[in-house]
Amino acid sequence: MKKLILANWKMQLSFKESEKLARNYQAKIKNSVFEVGVLPDFSALEIVGRNLPTKLFKLGAQDLAPYLKGAYTGEVSALSLKQLGVKYVLIGHSERRQEFREKSSLLRLKVQAALEAGLVPVLCIGENASQKKAGKTASVLRRQLEEVLFGLRIEKDNALVVAYEPLWAIGSGQALKAAAAEAIQVMIKGVLANLVGRFPRVIYGGSVSSKNAADFLEWPNIDGLLVGGASLEAAEFKKIISA
Ligand code: PGA
Repeated sequence: MKKLILANWKMQLSFKESEKLARNYQAKIKNSVFEVGVLPDFSALEIVGRNLPTKLFKLGAQDLAPYLKGAYTGEVSALSLKQLGVKYVLIGHSERRQEFREKSSLLRLKVQAALEAGLVPVLCIGENASQKKAGKTASVLRRQLEEVLFGLRIEKDNALVVAYEPLWAIGSGQALKAAAAEAIQVMIKGVLANLVGRFPRVIYGGSVSSKNAADFLEWPNIDGLLVGGASLEAAEFKKIISA
């Protein structure tokens, strides 16, 4: 499996700005040895998908509804995402866990909805600064994985991705050291092997930039990157996916 690099545009861009950035990606980025995914907000999925060559870029969403259909005002179904050409969908990004109080029970339903619709869930996990300080990183990550994935049937290794993002590293400019990330990814893979009997890709996120991307990507167990701020400029993102 190729390493996977995902651009998470969060809610940083308007519809028009997303369209413009997609055009800049298209103009500047011609190839990559990695699998690359672009995750605009819901409103821009279609226009971004239309502006990016599908051979090079996969489309991704930042969230989805926990159910496939029904009276759920304001939600977006995995079925619609699939029809829009989406392949990857973030689930349980720390901003959703914190700002919108999303709990494991809800995230589990979202993973199930994504799998049922044929999307690849990118389950985000990570410890906060005080958990890290207290030496609880491994137990926090294990619990986050178990609560969401226990008993779920994952058909094949590439039907799931896990994104490890230490909360204190997100948007802070302070990425985890690559060697430390590698050790944690190995631990996560061990948990996943027991839990779902698969070896999904485990990617790292948190203050990734063109300055550190290559350091992460040279490690065998860092299967890719989830990039926020540094994906908002085509030239910078190009450097990351050329790392
Ligand atoms: P960042 O965000 O690269 O801006 O730290 C990563 C993320 O939250 O996915």
